Amino acid sequence: MAKEKNISWDYSPAPENTSHVKVKERYELYIDGKFVKPESAKYFDTVSPSTGKKLASIAYGNEKDVDKAVKAARNAYVNIWSKMSGAERGKYIYRIARLMQERARELSVIESMDSGKAIRESRDVDVPLACNHFFYYAGWADKLEYAFPNRKVESLGVAGQIIPWNFPILMAAWKIAPALATGNTIVIKPAETTPLTAMKLAEIIHDSGLPAGVVNVVTGYGDTGAAIVNHNDVDKIAFTGSTGVGKIIQKAIAGTKKKATLELGGKSANIILEDAPLDQAVEGIINGIFFNQGHVCCAGSRLLVQESVADKVIRKLKRRMETLVVGDPLDKNTDVGAINSKEQLDIIKKYVSIGLEEGATMHQISCNIPKNGYFFAPTIFTDVAQSSTIVKEEIFGPVLTVQTFRTVDEAIQKANNSEYGLAAGVWTDKGSRIFNLTTKLNAGVIWANTYNKFDPASPFGGYKESGFGREGGLHGLNAYVKLR
Ligand code: NAI
Ligand code: MG
Repeated sequence: MAKEKNISWDYSPAPENTSHVKVKERYELYIDGKFVKPESAKYFDTVSPSTGKKLASIAYGNEKDVDKAVKAARNAYVNIWSKMSGAERGKYIYRIARLMQERARELSVIESMDSGKAIRESRDVDVPLACNHFFYYAGWADKLEYAFPNRKVESLGVAGQIIPWNFPILMAAWKIAPALATGNTIVIKPAETTPLTAMKLAEIIHDSGLPAGVVNVVTGYGDTGAAIVNHNDVDKIAFTGSTGVGKIIQKAIAGTKKKATLELGGKSANIILEDAPLDQAVEGIINGIFFNQGHVCCAGSRLLVQESVADKVIRKLKRRMETLVVGDPLDKNTDVGAINSKEQLDIIKKYVSIGLEEGATMHQISCNIPKNGYFFAPTIFTDVAQSSTIVKEEIFGPVLTVQTFRTVDEAIQKANNSEYGLAAGVWTDKGSRIFNLTTKLNAGVIWANTYNKFDPASPFGGYKESGFGREGGLHGLNAYVKLR
């Protein structure tokens, strides 16, 4: 290992400037166009996972706050938003997109502070993509009749939206933009560990002049989310998060008028065939699992590599891993930032010890991991089987399992042998092999010779325990309309 260690040099620290960032001491709820105190008078802390230090106090919304927010959303729906022309709605959505772009630097710094993700990701991926989702759906607002030819398109009403901590502003954009474009009003709850960019977005929405009550932001924990799910005047639930909570939600709304879109976990296979461009494939493996600390529902967390090239790929992968910079999320050189919370770090550690107990061979990169905050070294496991716990269950961290296969059929069989079906990656030089695999893999999203690439125009979502419904593209509109 010592020889492989010196293949890169150390970079000097390049911390992002934070002087332009304004984080208030306390954030209230955003209901009916006003920032209001929570009924409970309770607040909770959001911390920076890279330092463990408190960033701000956040209002803890309860059932009464949710009820106020739903009433405001219903009122805005009935009296304003559902009556407004698509072209007018579009103007507001464009305005939100432009304001987000103007404040992009601030949004990305705050995202990295609150979530632990590397600034390179929040600056170059999350925030630009979030803006693009608003631009994309703004364009559809006055063209719904073309999106659904020969159908009468109606909005649903009040949408309750519950989002996770892995892509806080991006998930807010994925949920809010299509709902507004189709004429629905919104009560949204960000995750308890990452509420700051949602509150910044509330400020932007407020500044955009969007009519009061069209978007309401209620911060809180799981009970706040449950209050949205169980409110009897909500027409639609859109949830992204754990499969466990997804199942609770599905039970809770069974037999009600509520429509649902659930985007849950994954255990996606990244498949490398022997004719693949191996160096590019190694980049794809790295991007598939170490991107965003592996806090990605569609992470390529199961590597399947053809036996004839397995040794070579694993050797190249280990070398490339050594060059990853793990550390301060606000440093521009950082590739792998902080794990989002102590709870998530504990989950990752638990899975790693299960992997070792079950006899897998672990390899971790040899760099120094910061002592403060929540960090985890990029890790790969070889000597695993289809029945290994770490191959079957979602870890949601920078941990990759490596399996080999001999034939393409074996790769397909192994990839599909999962309770999940969110994404997959295929690496090969041959177009015919790509078509063969993509038609046989049970996954909602399949990348060929790339991984973890997103675009507002392409739909995203899963099969089986990964959930149902699609977000993004035309399909994403469908989730917020009734067609007659
Ligand atoms: P979670 O599913 O508990 O949290 C997601 C959101 O749901 C948060 O806003 C949370 O406050 C809310 N929530 C929690 N309980 C709820 C309930 N009963 N009703 C309504 N809303 C509720 O996820 P958690 O605990 O943060 O992470 C646990 C695991 O979930 C992770 O280790 C990972 O495997 C998976 N996960 C998957 C995500 C994805 O993008 N598919 C995102 C986050 C977590
Ligand atoms: Mg936080």
